[in-house]
Amino acid sequence: MIEKIGIDKIGFYTPEFYLDLTELAHERDVDPNKFKIGIGQDEQAVVPLDQDVVTMAANAAVKILSADDLAEIDEIIFATESGIDQSKAGALYVQRLLGINPRARALEVKEACYGATAALQTAVDHLIAHADSQKVLVLGSDVARYGVATAGEVTQGAGAVAMLVTRQPRILALERTSAYFSEDIMDFWRPNYSDTAFAKGKYSTEQYLRFLDLVWHDYQAKTSAELADFAAVLFHIPYTKLGLKGLRQISADSNTELQESLLAQFTKATVFNRRVGNIYTGSLYLSLLSLLQNSDLPANARLGLFSYGSGAVGEFFTGTLQPRYQDVSQQVNVAEMLDQRQKLSVSEYETFFNQALPTDGSEMVITPISKNATFYLQGMTDHQRLYK
Ligand code: CAA
Repeated sequence: MIEKIGIDKIGFYTPEFYLDLTELAHERDVDPNKFKIGIGQDEQAVVPLDQDVVTMAANAAVKILSADDLAEIDEIIFATESGIDQSKAGALYVQRLLGINPRARALEVKEACYGATAALQTAVDHLIAHADSQKVLVLGSDVARYGVATAGEVTQGAGAVAMLVTRQPRILALERTSAYFSEDIMDFWRPNYSDTAFAKGKYSTEQYLRFLDLVWHDYQAKTSAELADFAAVLFHIPYTKLGLKGLRQISADSNTELQESLLAQFTKATVFNRRVGNIYTGSLYLSLLSLLQNSDLPANARLGLFSYGSGAVGEFFTGTLQPRYQDVSQQVNVAEMLDQRQKLSVSEYETFFNQALPTDGSEMVITPISKNATFYLQGMTDHQRLYK
């Protein structure tokens, strides 16, 4: 019998500040329904200067890891497309901040929003290959930035997901067969010199849907699966309307009952994404967390997951919910975390957006403003970030 491997714990962190997208629409002279219905987003997380991808990842992980976990993790994979260093892995900072076992591999992976899926599949492979390995920590942490008053502005966001991958997982056992497809295209990218992403907006959405079509049909050819085998299908969510288009695409030939039940689960799986925005690598897993905390699917329900990273890689993979998934996935109360955030005016958001760390080696001391965070960025000196 194949041993079960998958997600045993899942945690999340998002900044304590947000922007209301109706207010943004008024300020940008756009009909608010374009943002709320056309794009499908209500709010957007705004990152303050005392948080970055490292602190967000550490803040997501600290809420779920026990002392035993810290001692038993022997691989830490940090997925990001908004990393803080071209060379050093964000995983090393998180290892020190959390006090994770030093006899661990720590590395960073990148392939746009697909990075956390690459990390998750690598974690599974690590546990298959190393019988003595118990636990792998997968982190997906990003700040999605397009720029003030750009077309992409409404699809910004920030946050981190932490997942503990083990044998006999208590949340989601991953099935081994998946379908993936990669092709060198320019739909979305961020050159080293830019702190905002470039996107060919409409083209990127067409590629997302083309890759979905390719990997879903490949998956069906490999496994003879049908859409009706899945209780829910989860999507990478750059904004909820695109996931909805993906769902409509794969369910176009299904009967009305199946379409309606998948749509009902999709709605539950995007409650949090509507309020956080795009968190790039973590977005699919924030959608999973939204489903886990807002739905009451039975144990053994089968989920399909579509991961997409621009550039581009797509993957369709699957898993089954485990008997204790409802208890175990409540370690972080995401709805409460979102309700406790402080709303920023559009001009306050623009001020946050334009704050920058020094790039000339000079010293900067940052006054902490993230009251509920365990870890924060204290400042910079000699080109190094100082964390507390
Ligand atoms: N009421 C209701 N709906 C309205 C409306 C109104 N008053 N006004 C417009 N809309 C609808 C439009 O009809 C359109 O709907 P459809 O997509 O169903 O046609 C929708 O609102 C969006 O309108 P536009 O296409 O005119 O929007 P836009 O040109 O301003 O750009 C965007 C939208 C391309 C998503 C842009 O925000 C963008 O570039 N975002 C960043 C790139 C991105 O997220 N790409 C996603 C795929 S890439 C990926 O997945 C990786 C990743 O995470 C980045």
